[in-house]
Amino acid sequence: MGKNTLKIYNLAASITSTMNEITVLDREFSVYITENEIQSRITALAEKINEDLAGKDVLFFGILNGAFLFAADLFRQITLHSQISFIKLASYEGTSSSGKIKELIGWNEDITGKTVIVLEDIVDTGSTLERIIGELTLRKAVEVRICTLLFKPEAYTKDIPIDYIGFEIPNNFVVGYGLDYDGYGRNLKAIYKLTK
Ligand code: IMP
Repeated sequence: MGKNTLKIYNLAASITSTMNEITVLDREFSVYITENEIQSRITALAEKINEDLAGKDVLFFGILNGAFLFAADLFRQITLHSQISFIKLASYEGTSSSGKIKELIGWNEDITGKTVIVLEDIVDTGSTLERIIGELTLRKAVEVRICTLLFKPEAYTKDIPIDYIGFEIPNNFVVGYGLDYDGYGRNLKAIYKLTK
């Protein structure tokens, strides 16, 4: 049974990695950032964070749902004395940002005096980020850094500096590696952009 299971997984992996065009619900997407590119960029980000924050006690905050894979892959490579927690903020429907924050769930930690790193899947308009930074300031974090896998500079409307950016991308809708289109596509290993 072990052997069969392994074969199935290998097959699934190879199909995914050679898939250039995909359909999610009613939309077509083409591969944009490959699994290898994502993983090597995450390694570089983790090395930089480990170096910059050496000796500090750091609390990572992953923003759900989109950042769950990014947070897991990055945190595995963090060598700092650190903790991780997750916050949920839902602000997005379909393929354009509504700009409205609907929910904020999961603030259980005492962050007074802590160094916090916010882990985002993507920063688009920056509204989500602004809301989170506001909360962290209210709760007296001593230092806040932002780390996002993707950043859309053309869509960004805020002044909050972003400390660690995986990839700067144009203002196109993307899906995969945690990012969704109406809830689907999060399990794709690569990142895909909308073609139509
Ligand atoms: P912002 O508040 O406008 O910066 O949007 C941030 C959130 O919108 C992200 O955490 C994502 O959940 C979602 N989002 C923004 N752009 C995209 C995209 O291209 N694909 C999927 N989700 C996106």
